[in-house]
Amino acid sequence: MKFFLDTADVDEIREGVAMGMVDGVTTNPTLVARTGRPFKEAIAEICKIVAGPVSAEAVSEDAEGMIAEARELAAIAPNVVIKIPMTIEGLKAVTACAELGIQTNVTLVFQPLQGLMAAKAGARFVSPFVGRLDDISIDGMEMVADLKTMLRNYGFETEVIVASIRHPIHINQAALIGADIATIPLKVLKALARHPLTDAGIERFLEDYQKIPKS
Ligand code: G3P
Repeated sequence: MKFFLDTADVDEIREGVAMGMVDGVTTNPTLVARTGRPFKEAIAEICKIVAGPVSAEAVSEDAEGMIAEARELAAIAPNVVIKIPMTIEGLKAVTACAELGIQTNVTLVFQPLQGLMAAKAGARFVSPFVGRLDDISIDGMEMVADLKTMLRNYGFETEVIVASIRHPIHINQAALIGADIATIPLKVLKALARHPLTDAGIERFLEDYQKIPKS
């Protein structure tokens, strides 16, 4: 299973890379706005830190605008992937990008058939948002399981990025379903590595180490 970091903060990305956990990065306008940096500058720096796919989101609402943005963003670095919202105009843009050889990640997917359509249009990635569905009492992970089954049934190569992850259980469930990728906030990535019994075990070993005669 691949782990992407869901952030535009380069310090967070460097820390994740140092942990050996970053196969790629996803950003969105909200995450880039939080950095206070110009959009293209932030994406360019992330692409220098991470060799894997880096998603940068198009913000036009019409296909023509999205395609123009896709051309511009794809020129930043070879590992840029264009995040396109799951709309009818978005599907047109994904289709055109596939013809142009520009990789896309269809975002804001909330039901499996949206994901199937993204795959049919030629998206390299599709991003179902689990946390935002859970927030309105709909099981986000059920959508991921159904989407994964649909893509497997027909042999699509489109990879599923489980997005809008809020806690370690989301990643546990995504891994059991066989989702290709989880895009994870750094805070949640760190939480995955922790266990209170690990901490208690270290504390005990350190205490006992002090009891060992020095010579
Ligand atoms: O990858 C999409 C993600 O950034 C959305 O997360 O927490 O805003 O639903 P959230």
